[in-house]
Amino acid sequence: MNDTFLKACRGEEVPYTPIWIMRQAGRYLPEYRAIRGKADFLTMCKTPELAAEVTLQPIDILNVDAAILFSDILIPCEAMGQGLDFHEGKGPLLGPPIRDKETVDKLFVPDPEETMGFVMDTIRLLRKELAGRVPLIGFAGAPLTTATYMIEGGTSKNFLNTKMMIYQNPELYKSFMDKVTATITEYLKAQISAGAQAVQIFDTWGGIFSPADFREHALSYVQTIIKSLKEWMAKERDESVPIIYFVGETAGLLEDIKTSGADVFGVDWRINLDEAIKRLGGDVVVQGNMDPLSTFLPKDKIEERVKKVLAQASSARGHIFNLGHGVVPQTPPDNVIALVEMVHRLSKR
Ligand code: CP3
Repeated sequence: MNDTFLKACRGEEVPYTPIWIMRQAGRYLPEYRAIRGKADFLTMCKTPELAAEVTLQPIDILNVDAAILFSDILIPCEAMGQGLDFHEGKGPLLGPPIRDKETVDKLFVPDPEETMGFVMDTIRLLRKELAGRVPLIGFAGAPLTTATYMIEGGTSKNFLNTKMMIYQNPELYKSFMDKVTATITEYLKAQISAGAQAVQIFDTWGGIFSPADFREHALSYVQTIIKSLKEWMAKERDESVPIIYFVGETAGLLEDIKTSGADVFGVDWRINLDEAIKRLGGDVVVQGNMDPLSTFLPKDKIEERVKKVLAQASSARGHIFNLGHGVVPQTPPDNVIALVEMVHRLSKR
């Protein structure tokens, strides 16, 4: 098996720097759009054969070193009892928005196999189809990032309703977050039991806070998840799977992120990787961090940036190359294919 990605996660020696890309299965690939033309997004997520097929596309097309489960961080919101829909051009819509005691009380902590069995079925199918080619990454949204969608009812600009709940009704926020945290913990355990070989926790919206608010209202719940996953893995499993924690707007929060308990820290592009490594304490494994839109540059300029990121990463114990966030639908696939080749070639030990 190509286990370069898992070795890098553990800070072990690797023959080259492994790379995977957030949203590597997505609308920038014509092969994805061909399948998406026949089924809506949620149907794809809920049909293991389709979800597995698009998960595998970037493995063949890009030659990346890991597969990431095709699904969405909002799947557990529906399992908790909230309505979920994806509208063309509008993004996700969730309803009714969670804003008072009544709506929080109606939510439950679901059994993942019973309510989201299609995700675990996709993982089991993928492990068979991958047959050891590359490891499979599972994922979930962090509690705060998941909660913002549930409270706002969709994507938001200033997260007004989320912050109103936090500042005006902190007990309600906490009781809601405890349910979200328990749901995500059980969901990640189920993914690992089904065969996920690493998991990433996406905290895309962690950067909406001051560091103190981030610690209290976002990070503390992530620490709870990672602690219970690690205790559970030590007790129930032969081997621990690496946990990656990705926070958007990473730069203001690095000293706090360091205390999350994660094995790998995802870094966005708004900071140089060498500085991020220093602020994380030096002896760490990092993932990142090229600006996703720098894939629009001419190839020689992309190559310069790859060299820069690889050089900056040399002070870390381990490095997994990635973009600082997801690849966007307009990205030229050719440049992404070239990027993967560049990382492999330029990082060869
Ligand atoms: O990385 C991967 O390839 C795995 C699959 C994956 C998707 N979403 C597929 C997807 C993962 C890991 C996610 C995570 C996710 N989803 C996050 C966290 C990371 C991030 O990107 O910030 C968030 C915040 C979501 C919520 C979400 N899902 C939004 C806001 C949208 C709409 C975005 C848009 O541009 O329309 C989605 C839809 C979505 N999730 C798509 C894909 C491929 C596009 C759906 C389509 O084909 O129409």
